[in-house]
Amino acid sequence: CHDATVRRWTQRLDKCFTISDLKSLFEKRIPPVVGDYFLGGASDERTLRENEAAFERTRFAPNYGIRYDSIDTSTTVAGTKVSMPIIAAPVGSLRTVWPHGEAVAAKAVGEAGTICTLSTLTGTRLEEVRAASPHDCWFQLYLVGGQEVATKAIERAKKAGYTALVLTIDTPVAGLRYRDMRNGSSQAINGGLLQKMRFAPQMSRHLSWLTSYYHDGGLMDFPNIELPGGEPMPYADIGNQLQKAAVTWDDIQWIRDAWQGPIIVKGVHTLHDAQKAADVGAAAIVVSNHGGRQLDRVLPTLDALREIAPHMKDRNIDVLMDGGIRSGGDVAIAIARGAKAVLIGRAYTFGLGTAGHAGVSKAFSILRSELEHTMRQLGCASLAELDESYLRDSRV
Ligand code: FNR
Repeated sequence: CHDATVRRWTQRLDKCFTISDLKSLFEKRIPPVVGDYFLGGASDERTLRENEAAFERTRFAPNYGIRYDSIDTSTTVAGTKVSMPIIAAPVGSLRTVWPHGEAVAAKAVGEAGTICTLSTLTGTRLEEVRAASPHDCWFQLYLVGGQEVATKAIERAKKAGYTALVLTIDTPVAGLRYRDMRNGSSQAINGGLLQKMRFAPQMSRHLSWLTSYYHDGGLMDFPNIELPGGEPMPYADIGNQLQKAAVTWDDIQWIRDAWQGPIIVKGVHTLHDAQKAADVGAAAIVVSNHGGRQLDRVLPTLDALREIAPHMKDRNIDVLMDGGIRSGGDVAIAIARGAKAVLIGRAYTFGLGTAGHAGVSKAFSILRSELEHTMRQLGCASLAELDESYLRDSRV
């Protein structure tokens, strides 16, 4: 995108120093009906708030008197080397904030030297997204349309060169998203949103800007859910499909046979499920509550991580986490608490919605430099040195 809108918003990135600055710009640029879908959580949004609050109440205990020439923020996750322990989480509906948003994000994330995960519930063909990134990408699979349809997606993902399959287990039903219901875009997985945008007059400017980048009516279907006849699934059908879309433990066997590569189980809340994921041979788990969008009143992920990580040390599995990461300091806390890396959802979406590629690059560069800064202050030259000894619970 190189139009005047893009130029104007890209310039405003110069005055962005934190993810919270990016969020303010996102809220200014994106119409509220769309913005609420990205910002909101399930039910009364307790878990959504607590994901961030858990980081707020954690404090550092630095060891000073040390100076390092360089800080190494690289690590390896499920066999892939990344320049920083920060991976882009699967986020549905990105094309409602930026044309071809999934591919635009993948390019910026790959250029930052890390992994971008594509959600099934997206509007850009997985081949286009994979080709846009100079780094490894993961594909997050929902079983929308059943086994035959999902097998086709697995084959396409394999052929396109995705290196791991992310299986999200915490969506046996879509979360109760009251913001979306109030906005009239319930079951807002793409379809509701776009329908709403179509009919709401205040949406028309944003929608016509978006559609000017699509010459094929490409805003109205799911190109990564290919029906048996070869047609993409239309938006209208998605609401009925979601309840059958989450992956169960029983599905993992046939998925593994079809995929034959690393599998990552996302949406782990308890040690019980973490052990199960290790038992079925997952390469990694993501301790995640879907960014507070599924079941409200579950533990913030930082607390769930504290329960799970110490018990997984002797299992051959990478422990990742997501939920509430809004700064490099948060990343350092998650690593010190036992995560090998984190995923971020909203943080890069704020960048994408504000200024597309430049906005996503900005989000990753903010987080990386804040992480480096924090590690220097703590007296850690590498991620392996970060452990619980650097953390305290806040007494405030
Ligand atoms: C998500 N998330 C998600 N997860 C998934 O496995 N498949 C999906 O399609 C989506 N879609 C989605 C849409 C939106 C708008 C959001 C905000 C999130 C969850 C996502 O992968 C991740 O777990 C959270 O976003 C992490 O929390 P933060 O970083 O947003 O606080």
